[in-house]
Amino acid sequence: MSGRIPERFIDELMNRVDIVEVVGARIELKRAGSNYHALCPFHTEKTPSFTVSPSKQFYHCFGCGAHGTAIRFLMEYERLEFRDAVETLARHVGLDIPELAEDDKAKSLAPLYDLISQASRHFQHWLRRHPERARAVDYLQQRGVSGKIAAEYGLGFAPPGWDHLCRALSKPDLMVQAGLAAQRENRTYDRFRDRVMFPIRDRRGRVIGFGGRVIGDGEPKYLNSPETSVFHKGRELYGLYECLQHERHPAQLVVVEGYMDVVALAQFGFHEAVATLGTATSTVQVERLFQASRNVVFCFDGDRAGRQAAWRALENTLPALRDGRQAKFLFLPEGEDPDTIVRKEGVDAFRDRLKAAKPLSDFFFEHLGTDVDLDSVDGRARLAEAAAPLFKRLPSGIYRELMLERLAELTRVDAARVEASLAPRNERPRREQAQRPPKPVVKRTPIRLAIALLLQRPSLASVVQAPSRYRDQDIPGMELFGHMLTLIAEDPAITPGALLERFRDSKHEAVLWQLAAWDHLVPDSGVETEFRDSIVALDRLIDRKRLQYLNDRLQQGLLTREELREWQELKGVNRTPTE
Ligand code: UTP
Ligand code: MN
Repeated sequence: MSGRIPERFIDELMNRVDIVEVVGARIELKRAGSNYHALCPFHTEKTPSFTVSPSKQFYHCFGCGAHGTAIRFLMEYERLEFRDAVETLARHVGLDIPELAEDDKAKSLAPLYDLISQASRHFQHWLRRHPERARAVDYLQQRGVSGKIAAEYGLGFAPPGWDHLCRALSKPDLMVQAGLAAQRENRTYDRFRDRVMFPIRDRRGRVIGFGGRVIGDGEPKYLNSPETSVFHKGRELYGLYECLQHERHPAQLVVVEGYMDVVALAQFGFHEAVATLGTATSTVQVERLFQASRNVVFCFDGDRAGRQAAWRALENTLPALRDGRQAKFLFLPEGEDPDTIVRKEGVDAFRDRLKAAKPLSDFFFEHLGTDVDLDSVDGRARLAEAAAPLFKRLPSGIYRELMLERLAELTRVDAARVEASLAPRNERPRREQAQRPPKPVVKRTPIRLAIALLLQRPSLASVVQAPSRYRDQDIPGMELFGHMLTLIAEDPAITPGALLERFRDSKHEAVLWQLAAWDHLVPDSGVETEFRDSIVALDRLIDRKRLQYLNDRLQQGLLTREELREWQELKGVNRTPTE
């Protein structure tokens, strides 16, 4: 996990994002009064029960119950992680997502970044100066890596021995946290020993971890930094920073498997290669690649393992295929990797191979069609079945349409029927329905109405005289109401969407959503009056409870003088037949 996104940022984002725009860019919306309607993208239906509310900035489906803000919509519709949905929206409205720097956590991470970059400088220095550097230098030379490229990629040398780095940095605990040292029986020792070091940089160029290659033969061939608070293998790409230093907008990015492949290609003047960190390519990485270039080529070994890795990459690329993005696959002859092939054939031949790479759609149908007899009904049915879960990962758009057409052609079924058989887009239980189901009934109570109206128009909080009295009340809903008032007091401009996001994963989330979607039938012009009335009713309810409590105390002879005064006051305004 990367650092938490500050709540303030989510507020700001929700303030700028328009859910109608976000949803409308992905499914067809029709205006209906003050809301928008659509066929629900999350379940199959013939009449629209999916509603988007511009004033409350959320969507709700009365058919399947799907609901959420723009963030949730993207998470569900494009199958993104929370952070990536936030990132996507932020980019859309031109906000920079605060990296850890703005987070409070950032301050505590600064020493870690600092330490890792110091380590990198030591490794680099040792490659040039350490008495035992000869084998590392020879090794790099023998692999054809020039001093210039070694410097560009910050390559280094971790000398043999147990504590070169530990002694140089002398911060044992922090070193362990940074993944640079390990601890055994109260002794701290260097993690990387006698290896050629490849520093891994994040998108800002900060070194966050290392891959260390054994010099010559040995196990493990590559030793990597473990996951730390700053190093996340599933998110980072080796060589991306260096590539973007060369060219802000590369025409293509080529994903290769090894650090050495990236370095070797750079040595030959090809700077558009990046590598994953020994893990399968993740959707987060693919998003990052596409952010930098619209053309991504995955370059893998032609053997079985390579094809398998390529297929994993394809699966994780599907959700990112939109906005004219293109992915291709290049399979190298067995036993070759980009490093060996560029040395053997030269960079122009490698470029030619890239030009001839297989479009994702070709690989897709080729792979699914393996061992399937398309001349038989069975075979075609099997193809359709195998394709269905993958189509669910594709965002709607031209690309998906084209893929559908192709699937229709292969299965010899017309595209509309293929499409119908592919729905639903989500794993939610499928509910067919002929007519719109009744809207959920919410019993009208003052507290529910107060919450619903406040959510709809947070500025109403200003009419509440003593917000603090709503907290700590043993009345259902009151705690939620009090909490909302506090949040609004902290940020009077907070939007309904931001408020909803503040309650993400809280125990109040479900209730809040139910009330958000509740059609309370209060017209816009009546919202403030209704809200004031609800508050009066709530106050009365609280007073009545208090009076009951005081009555009990009175009967037990426990009233203090202060409580007695309070009791008299309450008796005066409440004509409840409590006695
Ligand atoms: P390869 O074994 O294909 O690496 O592993 P390579 O780059 O061709 O290595 P050379 O050419 O022999 O130096 C590809 C990637 O898999 C990860 C590393 O990220 C490596 O770059 N890997 C491999 C490990 O993490 N550990 C290993 O032991 C091996
Ligand atoms: Mn290699």
